[in-house]
Amino acid sequence: MESLESKTRFCFVALLLISLVWSQLPSSSAQQQHEPNPTIRTMEDFSGYPIHEPGQFGSISLASSLSVDAPGLQKQIEELSRFSDAPSPSVTRVLYTDKDVLARRYVKTLMTLAGLSVREDAVGNIFGKWDGSEPSLPAVATGSHIDAIPYSGKYDGVVGVLGAIEAINVLKRSGFKPKRSLEIILFTSEEPTRFGISCLGSRLLAGSKELAEALKTRVVDGQNVSFIEAAKSAGYAEDEDEDFSSVFLKKGSYFAFIELHIEQGPILEDEGLDIGVVTAIAAPASLKVEFEGNGGHAGAVLMPYRNDAGLAAAELALAVEKHVLESESIDTVGTVGILELHPGAINSIPSKSHLEIDTRDIDEARRNTVIKKIQESAYTIARKRKVKLTEFKIVNQDPPALSDKLVIKKMAEASTELNLSHKMMISRAYHDSLFMARISPMGMIFIPCYKGYSHKPEEYSSPEDMSNGVKVLSLTLAKLSID
Ligand code: GLV
Ligand code: MN
Ligand code: MN
Repeated sequence: MESLESKTRFCFVALLLISLVWSQLPSSSAQQQHEPNPTIRTMEDFSGYPIHEPGQFGSISLASSLSVDAPGLQKQIEELSRFSDAPSPSVTRVLYTDKDVLARRYVKTLMTLAGLSVREDAVGNIFGKWDGSEPSLPAVATGSHIDAIPYSGKYDGVVGVLGAIEAINVLKRSGFKPKRSLEIILFTSEEPTRFGISCLGSRLLAGSKELAEALKTRVVDGQNVSFIEAAKSAGYAEDEDEDFSSVFLKKGSYFAFIELHIEQGPILEDEGLDIGVVTAIAAPASLKVEFEGNGGHAGAVLMPYRNDAGLAAAELALAVEKHVLESESIDTVGTVGILELHPGAINSIPSKSHLEIDTRDIDEARRNTVIKKIQESAYTIARKRKVKLTEFKIVNQDPPALSDKLVIKKMAEASTELNLSHKMMISRAYHDSLFMARISPMGMIFIPCYKGYSHKPEEYSSPEDMSNGVKVLSLTLAKLSID
C-alpha cells in the first residue's frame, strides 16, 4: 500500500512529465466541429457522458513499454478468415460447423502459445487464463466472438479475440505481472445465424434459465437439427444430464469485463479519432412472424380470390419501417433481414411467409412501443388479407446496458496515457458485453473501421487502429488487474 504522500508526489511528477510531452503533441481532441445533430444529443442523454470527455492523466511508464506485433495480428486475422464457408473476402462462419470447429482450434492454439490455461464449457465458450499473483481474487476478463454472419467480414468480433490474445502477449513482453488473473473469453454464437438466438454463450453465462431450458428441449436450426445434436457434433454438451446450468457464472466472478471491437459505424473515422470509450449499449429485440394463406396457381386464381401470404409479409415489412419512423427519433431502427416465401416458385402464390425482424433503440420504452405496433399491424394485415397469423414470437427483447464508471475511467486514462485521441460513445450494435454487464462491471473499447462498414465483406480496420485498440486494452487490463 503506497502512502498518500508518495502517491501525491508520484501523481505530481507524472502530471508534470505528461504536460511537458503533451504540449508537444497535436490536440487529442482533434475532432472536427459538427453542426448540432440529433445523434449527439441522444448519445449524451443516453450515456450520461459528454461526448467530448476531457482526458485524464496517470502513469505513463507501462504505457510506453507496450509494443504490439501489428503485422502478426494482421496475419492471424487473415489466417482465421480462411475458416469460412464463403469465398474470400467474405466470411461465413456459423456455429458448430466444421469451419467454426477449425477456427476454435486455431484460437485455442494461440491461447496455449500465449501461455494461457484453456478450458471450455458445455456450449463451447472458451476461456484462456493467465494466473495473477493473487489468483483467488475475481479475475479481469476480456473477449468477444469469432462466428460470422453469412457473407460478412474478417474483423467483427475477431479483433476482440485475437486482439485480446495479443494484449496478453504485449503485457507479458513488457514484463508486467498481474495481481488479479486475466482471462480471455471466446463467446459462443454472438450472432443469431444458426439458432436465431443472439449472444447465446454470454446470455447463458449471465444465467438465463429460460435459455438453458430452451436449449435442452426445443431449440432447432433451419434444418431441424437440435441444438444438442449440433453441439455434440462439435464436441460440446457431452454430458447426458447436461442442463446447461453448468455454464452459468455467478455475479462477481469477474472484477471487470472489457470487450475490444470495431465500431461498426462511421463516427471515429469521420472525426479522425483513435478510440471510442463505450458508455452504453442500445437495447436490441428480434421477432419471428409467419403468415399462411391458400396458395394456388399464379395464372388460374384470379386476384379477388387470393389470400397471398407473401403480400401480407411485404405489407408487414413496410409497416415495420412506418412504425420505426413514427418514433421520430434517429435512434430507433428496424430491419426485416429475413423474408422467406413458400413454396418459392414464380408461378405459385405464396402459401406461407416467414419474416424475422430486428428492432433497436437506446430508449427501451420507445423500442417496446414499436414492437407493440408491429404486433398490432400483423393482426390487422392478417384480417384484411384473410391469411392466418400462425406465429408472432418475440425472440428476445433485451434492455440496454450501461458501462461501469470505473471501467470507463480506466479505458479513458489508458487512451490518454497512450496519447490516443478518444471520445465517449454508445454502441448501437449489441455485443456479448450486453450480457456480461449483468454479472460484471463492463466496458467496451471501439476502434475505427473503414467507412463504418460491418456485416459485409468490405469490413476493414487498419493494423494501426487494431494496434491502438490492443494497447488500450492491455493497459486497461493491467490497471484493473492491480486495482
Ligand atoms: C451484432 O452482430 C449486432 O447485430 O449488433
Ligand atoms: Mn456482428
Ligand atoms: Mn461483433
